[in-house]
Amino acid sequence: MSVHHPEHDDGFAARLLAWYDRAARALPWRVPPGSDAVPDPYRVWMAEVMLQQTTVAAVAGYFEKFTTRWPTVADLAAAADADVMAAWAGLGYYARARNLLACARAVALDLDGSFPDSEAALRGLPGVGDYTAAAVAAIAFGRPAVVVDANIERVIARHRLIETPLPAAKKAIKAALAPLVPADRPGDFAQGLMDLGATICTPRSPACGICPLMADCCARGRADIERLPVKPPRKAKPHRHGTAWWIEQAGRLWLVRRPDKGMLGGMRALPGSEWSDARPRESGLVSVDHGFTHFDLTLTLVRRDPPPEGSPEGSSEVGDAAAEGEWWPISNLDAAGLPTLYRKLADKMRERDE
Ligand code: ADE
Repeated sequence: MSVHHPEHDDGFAARLLAWYDRAARALPWRVPPGSDAVPDPYRVWMAEVMLQQTTVAAVAGYFEKFTTRWPTVADLAAAADADVMAAWAGLGYYARARNLLACARAVALDLDGSFPDSEAALRGLPGVGDYTAAAVAAIAFGRPAVVVDANIERVIARHRLIETPLPAAKKAIKAALAPLVPADRPGDFAQGLMDLGATICTPRSPACGICPLMADCCARGRADIERLPVKPPRKAKPHRHGTAWWIEQAGRLWLVRRPDKGMLGGMRALPGSEWSDARPRESGLVSVDHGFTHFDLTLTLVRRDPPPEGSPEGSSEVGDAAAEGEWWPISNLDAAGLPTLYRKLADKMRERDE
């Protein structure tokens, strides 16, 4: 039974769930609606961590790769940091990968391999914020948590015609949603809203005509429905520049590991300069533009000579003297697990050399 809310309920959850029963997307971390199977909290948690800031399409291959290689939380906890970081390469927001591993180790070592089954306890795990705690509590453990991701924000902001701009609107959205969460199927309810947002209540050209929530949607058919939810004013992003160094010797490339703290922390990378507001004076062989959340970067590649024989490690000739590095076979660069920024640069360089 859903908690009764007199002004605005009218079977909202029932209509959504009836639609979800027919239309749920088959996703590898999900238990299909109506099935007796029990979701695996490890898989639910991993999917929710991967899906932050990213789409189902982008995550699918990574989810498959991670769960095949590390089928249980104990397997992941025992993995080497470098292997997990390399497997995450390309998915972005690398702090999530470091937290994924820290969380797996906390669950495997401190909690005997069992994820906590309440929202509050989940929130105490590394990298598990309000969203992930609510999603895992609802989807894996059937707790009536209020789950709000970007898709759900859009559905509710439209249904209730919430005009407050994000992120301030989150509070009103959560308040509108809380009384609608059905105690018997909170996980399906959350995932039903996600699927509705992904397939019907889409950012552009929503398909209001086939929406199960159309009858009482305050924004249905409005010419300006795409405006909702109202976004915050766009801030101009600063533009930064950096130089990366292509140091090649006998078919191998000098790669470093970036410091754990900071951008692309813990990832393998090409060595190079700090990133700054100033345009580099050296003109490069190739360059790439890459958008991060808070700034855009132009990274230019220059060739550098390898250091004199016998002194690669610790040489200031190859970047930060303290940086850990290795000579990586260029023919197997795909296995290095470079973040997208460096991978784009290396791909351009190899095209140029062909
Ligand atoms: N986006 C985030 N979590 C999701 C889920 N469990 N199903 C579909 N899309 C999602």
